[in-house]
Amino acid sequence: MKKVLCVYYSQSGQLTQIVKNFAKPFEKSGEYTVTFAPIELVNDYEFPWKGYNFFDAFAESVNKIPCEIKPLHIENEDFDLIVFAYTVWYMMPAIPANSFLLSDQAKRIFKNKPVITLLGVRNMWVVAQEYVKSRIVELNGNLVGNIVLRDRAENLTGIVTISYFLFTGRKDRFLGFFPKPGISDKDIASADKFGDIVKNHTVNNTFEKLQEELIKAKAVKINAYLATVERMAYKRVFLKWAGFILKKGGPGDPARRKRVKMFAFYFPFAILVIAPIEYIFFLIFAPFRIKTIKKDKVYFSGVNLK
Ligand SMILES: Cc1cc2nc3c(=O)[nH]c(=O)nc-3n(C[C@H](O)[C@H](O)[C@H](O)COP(=O)(O)O)c2cc1C
Repeated sequence: MKKVLCVYYSQSGQLTQIVKNFAKPFEKSGEYTVTFAPIELVNDYEFPWKGYNFFDAFAESVNKIPCEIKPLHIENEDFDLIVFAYTVWYMMPAIPANSFLLSDQAKRIFKNKPVITLLGVRNMWVVAQEYVKSRIVELNGNLVGNIVLRDRAENLTGIVTISYFLFTGRKDRFLGFFPKPGISDKDIASADKFGDIVKNHTVNNTFEKLQEELIKAKAVKINAYLATVERMAYKRVFLKWAGFILKKGGPGDPARRKRVKMFAFYFPFAILVIAPIEYIFFLIFAPFRIKTIKKDKVYFSGVNLK
């Protein structure tokens, strides 16, 4: 029997559902044992989020500063396939997910093992995945596949609906007419089709063509505009704000309250005013950047690290 490990951290249960559906083909085949290992925190983040806490998590997430986690409850650390499922917080892996990636246990588990990344996000994940790719290399793991389930709502609508979801914990229609928040039930339910593809390649450890097949099955879709804005915003804006906040102290430190609040005002402004302006610039310059855009799409859909 081959052994599959699924490591994940989910607040609302959305990512948990994705992981469970993804793993179904492995379980059904009777040829695999699947171990589900949720990442547990010493002090968990409260969900639904309270306004201040949501923005207080920004600086640590952006700067990849870990929080304290408990070791995974697993009897054995030797697996044939690792599924690392994560969500993104402020363009980086959620703090709990990253804390696991930085742990000694991850060093032992990932070493010389094929790894699948499985994301359940809103729509900005490219910067996070580049970091995760590099971390997997440092852990001596071998990233063989990437699957991204995302919110299909248009960007601004998605910001409204995910805010409703994160601050209330509810996945119904905000005000009765907005689309349902987060990843659609249909996409969550059909995550098993990706599990099936991965399973077929795990049988004989033939992972060379796996990502190509996953891309054909629409496991990853790159939005060129979002990928461009995201990379710019992370480098030029997020890192600077995070540094500014961190100078005043760590999570929950009252000394940084004022700066966190300033960021909380800046954030909607950036989304509602700066991002649409950047979109116009993106459209104007897109015809001159077609080659780069095409190259980026291929690269970010893949599992290799530049
Ligand atoms: C603090 C915070 C920041 C987030 N930032 C992003 C982001 O930058 N990009 C993105 O696509 N999704 C972002 N999300 C959405 C999450 O990736 C995820 O889809 C959502 O929180 C549901 O995950 P769950 O399964 O843990 O409930 C953010 C969520 C939170 C709580």
